[in-house]
Amino acid sequence: MCGIVGVLGNHEVAPLIVEALKRLEYRGYDSAGIATVNRGRLDRRRAVGKLVNLSDLLVHEPLAGKSGIGHTRWATHGAATTVNAHPHRSGPVAVVHNGIIENFRELREEVTAAGLTPESQTDTETVALVLRMFMDRGLSPVDAARETLTRLHGAFALCFLFDGEEDLMIAARKGSPLAIGHGEGEMFVGSDAIALAPMTDRITYLEEGDWAVITRAGAQIYDAAGRLANRAETRIQIDATRIEKGGYKHFMAKEIAEQPVVIADALKHYVQDGAPNLPAEVDFTGVDRLTLVACGTASYACLVAKYWFEQIAGLPCEVDIASEFRYREPPLSDRSWALFVSQSGETADTLAALRYASGKVAKVVSVVNVPTSSIARESDLALPILAGVEVGVASTKAFTCQLTVLALLALKAALDRGRLAPADLAAHLGALAALPGLMNHTLGLSGDIAALASDLAKAQDILFLGRGSMYPLALEGALKLKEISYIHAEGYASGELKHGPIALIDAQVPVIVLAPRDALFEKTVSNMQEVMARHGKVLLISDAQGVAEAGKGCWKTLTLPACDSAFAPILYSVPAQLLAYHTAIAKGTDVDQPRNLAKSVTVE
Ligand code: G6P
Repeated sequence: MCGIVGVLGNHEVAPLIVEALKRLEYRGYDSAGIATVNRGRLDRRRAVGKLVNLSDLLVHEPLAGKSGIGHTRWATHGAATTVNAHPHRSGPVAVVHNGIIENFRELREEVTAAGLTPESQTDTETVALVLRMFMDRGLSPVDAARETLTRLHGAFALCFLFDGEEDLMIAARKGSPLAIGHGEGEMFVGSDAIALAPMTDRITYLEEGDWAVITRAGAQIYDAAGRLANRAETRIQIDATRIEKGGYKHFMAKEIAEQPVVIADALKHYVQDGAPNLPAEVDFTGVDRLTLVACGTASYACLVAKYWFEQIAGLPCEVDIASEFRYREPPLSDRSWALFVSQSGETADTLAALRYASGKVAKVVSVVNVPTSSIARESDLALPILAGVEVGVASTKAFTCQLTVLALLALKAALDRGRLAPADLAAHLGALAALPGLMNHTLGLSGDIAALASDLAKAQDILFLGRGSMYPLALEGALKLKEISYIHAEGYASGELKHGPIALIDAQVPVIVLAPRDALFEKTVSNMQEVMARHGKVLLISDAQGVAEAGKGCWKTLTLPACDSAFAPILYSVPAQLLAYHTAIAKGTDVDQPRNLAKSVTVE
């Protein structure tokens, strides 16, 4: 969601803050702003739209100062307008915020009764007004901030800057992540360490309920009970150059193309001497059930993995989307494990689901791309997917790396449960090892897919069909397409077609069938025939044998290399991603930063 930066520097901070905001733009990009203190005077600039609009504004109306805060917004309360953009200011205080202040209506009434007038529709401005109310009553900035924080309900990461205070920032974290960066006589605050990477690799993560008084000399951190807290400083290894487009037009294109390499890296890390190489704690002996929880694309990775855990390891498995999980109050047993999958490791619903499961299950395991994230830190065991930084809002390489790690976990479960003969293990590992090469081959179909996409771009609705573990991939294909091309798309289990969606079929609705020539192929082909009998336009994505057997009469076909059927969802992700990418290009949408979306969803 929103991205936050704060700098107490030795040089002009506006360019540094804009640079850091660029690295946080994945969190939201409907407006942006910065505030600085210069010669004791607090001032701000805000602009609607992408960060570039703020940069342009700063050219015409520069903002001097060596202390500043900045923000890139994903609107929750109030439209994306300049007045609703952060930093919000009231009198001597400016604030940037990520999260939601749930009791802002009551607070707004209170400050209005105290004679203060809100200007915006945001919950955030109320925080500035409350703090100002306390300062008007004579409290110092630090005391006023302390009082204000006790009054706020909801989830927040906050950073405050004060008029007349060149050497003071106050930061607070409850429910939304926040990191403090340490420099030489400089201090930083950021929503994540990536934002601060060009400035420092020395990071202290605030814990739940922490707040910090920051000066250039350092940070004093207090815990939720107001006690001085000692939080460790860690060195982060972030290769700053890794978040460049590297010659590609879009991050998404680069990230799709990186998949053979990152999957090979993940396999190298997690497979050794012909066996899964996982930490010793990964022992499924005695585990009687697995609960997998995630949001969005990560939840589809879980749905694919359910087929693997159940078919290969015989381990009963349920999958929940995180936003429903804890409100359903599912009974959890202490013989089960709960597994949370998240690229960012910061998704608010997934984190809340993890907290619900903690203490109720035997082990909380996470599969994350950011090993320093909240979800990783709050799990009993965190397994990194090693995808490298993913910038495109639509997840691609993180999805296939999540699948790779989940496949290896399923194999380990099968071994621990005595379900896998050595020859079968070797065959499965061989099939996984073949994937990078097969993916490389499939990436070569990009031109063919671009040609198909120019037709798909004319459609209003598109259906994706799949059976078995290709069903969740149909869901993922549809999600990817709607996320970035804005074409309405739905994924269905092929067998469900007759129970409703077939009513949509006419000559205008493309139906994309994901069907490797596996044991379920003929059943899927029957469903495909039902579409064609109603003049539906079928795009069959299969291997050479599948296309030879069933390609006749299809609108188009796409031939992938043959692969092991168990792990076909990993390979078939590539054409699904490329179809979405090229359709978005044909429609001229913003591929890396599609409208209304954000990469890291830190509000419920
Ligand atoms: C957002 C992103 C998706 C992602 C989902 C879950 O909706 O746009 O790409 O799949 O959040 O994010 P996570 O970081 O938990 O995997």
